[in-house]
Amino acid sequence: MNPIQAHLIDLPKIPDDRGNLSFFENSKQIPFDIKRVYWIYDVPGGEVRGGHAYRELTEVIIALSGSFEVILHDGTEEKRFMLNRSYTALYIPKMMWRQLENFSTNAMALIAADAAYDEADYIRDFNDFKKLKHGA
Ligand code: TYD
Repeated sequence: MNPIQAHLIDLPKIPDDRGNLSFFENSKQIPFDIKRVYWIYDVPGGEVRGGHAYRELTEVIIALSGSFEVILHDGTEEKRFMLNRSYTALYIPKMMWRQLENFSTNAMALIAADAAYDEADYIRDFNDFKKLKHGA
């Protein structure tokens, strides 16, 4: 895996009889400055999102509701993370192939990233990704 490996981050959870509350702030619970937040929802059964890597972008992904799997590949090995808690963030460093699949009904994926949207930062071909990772 990358020098800074993908890992799960336990976010604060404020339990309350009125409903629980979790949060993250720039460079505190999340180890970067957040430049963009987006979310994926209304995913039809069996659909797959992602399927690319970012050259420079770092992100966290949270299952705000429901569940889904994030499959990460560093060019050598694959790791799968099941996200199903609204207080658990998956940190994903740059240059990691990532795909989201097995969305439950009403699943909501929240992604916070350290950069604005930039199509030029995407690597959308897995073979290109592997070549870049292995310096070929
Ligand atoms: P893409 O990142 O390819 O989706 P996936 O989650 O499956 O990887 O984005 C899909 C489309 O949405 C693409 O045409 C670009 C657009 N888009 C934005 O305009 N801004 C954004 O912040 C994101 C994430 C995507």
